[in-house]
Amino acid sequence: MTSLQPTQLLNTEERINQAVALLKAGECVALPTETVYGLAADATNRDAVAKIFIAKGRPTNHPLIVHIPNQSHVHHWAKNVNKAAITLADAFWPGPLTLILNAKDDLNSPVTGGLPTIGLRVPAHPEFLAVLKQLNTGLAAPSANRYKQLSPISAAHVMRDLNGRISAVLQGGECNVGIESTIVDASSQQLRILRPGPISAADILQKTGLHVSTPHSHNEVVPGNVKAHYQPNAPAMLANTEDFAKILSENSQGKSHYLIYSTQVQQQLLANDIPSERITKLSSCPIEYAKNMYKALHLIDEKTPLNIYIEKPPVGSEWAAVNDRLSRAATS
Ligand code: TXA
Ligand code: MG
Repeated sequence: MTSLQPTQLLNTEERINQAVALLKAGECVALPTETVYGLAADATNRDAVAKIFIAKGRPTNHPLIVHIPNQSHVHHWAKNVNKAAITLADAFWPGPLTLILNAKDDLNSPVTGGLPTIGLRVPAHPEFLAVLKQLNTGLAAPSANRYKQLSPISAAHVMRDLNGRISAVLQGGECNVGIESTIVDASSQQLRILRPGPISAADILQKTGLHVSTPHSHNEVVPGNVKAHYQPNAPAMLANTEDFAKILSENSQGKSHYLIYSTQVQQQLLANDIPSERITKLSSCPIEYAKNMYKALHLIDEKTPLNIYIEKPPVGSEWAAVNDRLSRAATS
């Protein structure tokens, strides 16, 4: 079922129409969203959805998010949608928020991974939306990477991971959010964040007056929400600022460690004469950090380092999404 042809890069003015034609024909096409690139297939076509699981090597009980062109499509997929869910959709769609809702009884679709719920989102990327509008249906789209690997934020990242395994990638530049959507379970009155992301509990409270609980307080386990995830090929390790001195001395013994830091270790790095290609500084602003985090990890990984050491970011709630991804990236 998987394409044996090299994956096409759709990069001309015709790219939207080409993507639509391939998706109509039941193929998988990677498309840019504002968060990360998604591996899209017609969510109403079981064979097309099956190709996503095969291309990614993803277990079939891990549910997929269905991307819809606008809020009026919710009722094709979900039932008993409560007022809070509508308030959230009104406030944040199109945008980086996925809502978990009760799946319609007759849905019987592989996108739910066998769960009684369904994840829905209206993405904010103009090219993804243009494809959705032409198709006027739902597109199942997990991140366009192999199972457990780093999420892609450019067409080149998708190509590196999935070339030959999918029909095409639509070239739509770099994703400007750079980290996956916030997932809120709104299937009951008790709203819960299942995956922290660009929209925080505080953003939700401020914009809608709704309280959502965070993963620490409810510990919800969902297939697909696994501990070791978002991983580069090289082992990634989170390091306290104090530990950087030891890592630096190993580096000077010729070990090929690469380092990502945000604020605190700059003096040590400068003093230890570490080759500049081995060190990456990310912002001390959590939004900017998130935007550049996967890009930095992809770039470093291409150099086949021995290890990637990442200075632990701060622990505040505004860092929840970054810390969630980094702790999974660093789980062996
Ligand atoms: O930003 C994003 O969310 C990107 C872009 C492409 O939209 N998509 C993405 O999909 O990150 P994926 O498959 O890599 O992660 C989606 C996660 C799944 O691992 C699963 O934990 C959760 O969404 N999910 C999907 N449907 C669910 C459901 N019915 N109940 C609970 N969790 C669900
Ligand atoms: Mg993913």
